Parts: sequence; C-alpha cells; structure tokens
Amino acid sequence: MHPERSVLSVPGGRPELFEKALRSDADLVFLDLEDSVVETAKAEARRNVVRAVNELDWRGRPRAVRINAVDSPYCYRDLMDLLEGAGNRIDLIIVPKVERPEQVHALDILLDQLEAAGGIGHRVQLEVQLETASGILHAGSIAGACERLRALVFGPGDYAASVGMPMSAIGMEDEWDAAYGAPRLQYPMHQLLVAARAYGLRAIDGPYADYRDNEGLRRAARRARALGYDGKWCIHPAQIPIVNEVFTPTEAEIAWAKEVLKAYHEAERQRRGALAIGSTMIDAASVRMAESTLSRARAAGRGF
Ligand code: COA
Ligand code: MG
Repeated sequence: MHPERSVLSVPGGRPELFEKALRSDADLVFLDLEDSVVETAKAEARRNVVRAVNELDWRGRPRAVRINAVDSPYCYRDLMDLLEGAGNRIDLIIVPKVERPEQVHALDILLDQLEAAGGIGHRVQLEVQLETASGILHAGSIAGACERLRALVFGPGDYAASVGMPMSAIGMEDEWDAAYGAPRLQYPMHQLLVAARAYGLRAIDGPYADYRDNEGLRRAARRARALGYDGKWCIHPAQIPIVNEVFTPTEAEIAWAKEVLKAYHEAERQRRGALAIGSTMIDAASVRMAESTLSRARAAGRGF
C-alpha cells in the first residue's frame, strides 16, 4: 500500500495552493472542506475540489478530500457533489469528528448508493478522525465499523477542546504539560493506536500548528513514531521533510533488523528458536519486530 508518513492538508478554498501541494514530497495530500474553509465559502470550495480531483495530476497518490462532519449541515452535499462530480476519480474520503460506529455505517450505505447510481467501478476508502471524547471512547467499534476504513487519525486540537484540556495551539506542548508532569495526549493516542491495529488499520497523528518550530515538530512526530504511529499530518510544506524522516526507519534500524533475521534463520537451521546476538536474546518475537521495521522501510521506498 502507498505509504502515509506525511499527510499534507490544503484548504479547499485556496486552489492556488493545490498544484504546489501535489508537487511536494508529501506521501498523501488532501483537499479540505472542513475547518480550514469558512461557512460562507463551503460551496465554492466544493467546486474547487471537484475540479482538482478531476483535472490535476496527483502523481500516483490517492485523490483525497476531507468532508465536513456527519452531524454538520454540509456533509451530505459534500458527498453528493464529490461522488456525482468526480466519483470515478475520488479514492479516499477523510471524515472528521467521528463519534460512533453508526456514523460510519450511515456513510457506508450512502456511498454504496452513490457508487451504484454513478456506475463507479471502485470502492471509495475512508479515513476517520477521532478527536472528541466520544470518538476516543468508541475507538474500537468505530475501527471495526466498515471495510472501507484504512486509517484512524488523531485530532489533538478538537480533542483538547472536547475534554476541556487547556492547550494554547494545536498539537503543541505548553506549560500545562509541565503542570501535568507528562505528555497529556498519550492516553487518547494510545487508545486510537490499539483500536487501529486491532482491525489492521493505520494510525496517523494530527498536525503541529507552528510551522516554523522544527524542533517542536520533530519531538511531536518522534513521540507518535515511538508509540507505533505510521505518519503525521502537515499543515505547511516546510513540515514534510521532517515528518518523512521521522517516520522512515533509520539505516541503523534497518541494519539491525537484517542482522536479526539472518541470525535467527541460521539458528533455525540448527533447530534452535532462541539465540543471542552479543548479549541480546533473539527469538520469534524479535523476528516479527524486525519484519515490521523492514516492511515500513519498504513502504517508504527503501528497497533492499
Ligand atoms: N499547501 C500547499 N502550499 C502551502 C500550504 C499548504 N498547506 N501552506 C503554505 N503553502 C505555500 C504558500 O502558499 C507559500 O507558497 P509560495 O512560496 O509559492 O508563495 C509557501 O507555501 C510558504 O507559505 P507561508 O507564507 O510560509 O505560509 P502562509 O502564511 O501562506 O500560510 C497557513 C500559513 C498556516 C495559513 C497555511 O500554511 C495553511 O493554510 N495551511 C493549511 C491549514 C489547514 O489545512 N488546516 C486544516 C487541517 S489541520
Ligand atoms: Mg479537527
């Protein structure tokens, strides 16, 4: 599957940015109809986005759009215009503020009908954002709600607002993290990760608001990577190289993974399931860890 280390968001109301975004090194680019578009500009943004899905060169990436939340007054029209105007070309729809599995079922049924009515030959995939107390509470049932799902995406800003957590800017640490004594988003991020993996989905972190604070971005990205996340949203092109780097296994990690596999397979020929490299014990679990590193490396285009 196409990698998803960096995911660049582009406001649907700013079509002059679309080509630039698509020429970037972001693994995934999506055009946004939700929070970066004011209410009075929703209709125009839909027209921009339909045109871009039909006409622009997405350079092999899935063509992706974020619609408005299922309980907003814009969602049904977003879906109809996208599927009726660009149904043969839209690959992926990102749905914000998903709170319950029934919302995913409803979208699934509507998409079935729009695909059938439009003679659309492929199934549109879904990524859903969990970014409210209810979304995190129901993460497992949401993750298992439909076969179209390919990722769960964490939304730090909306989550903080939803639970009453003070946060000065989206996805950033501030003095309240020091007051708490630990990174405060660890719980919802871990919950999302486990739900995603239980259903074979990707786990993607949300954005980091300050696009000039490279060190802060790197710390936040490394924290998500340390948990097991596959990638992170970017709001500005300057964030893409940092995020791609953090979510690509390092040379040292790749070399170690290969060494583990080689040593294990040699031991296996001697009918031994546990061995040591130096003083480090290796067994079948180490093999699974090494394979996970190598499959990330391959997804990131690091062939060997
Ligand atoms: N996609 C594509 N191009 C972008 C971009 C994006 N998300 N953000 C900035 N750029 C472009 C700018 O247009 C500019 O291009 P230029 O050099 O050809 O003039 C260049 O990158 C540098 O931009 P800069 O001047 O540093 O930023 P800005 O002040 O124009 O914009 C933001 C800052 C935050 C308003 C803008 O980055 C943005 O709208 N980001 C996306 C927000 C979003 O999608 N939010 C919802 C999801 S979380
Ligand atoms: Mg949000």
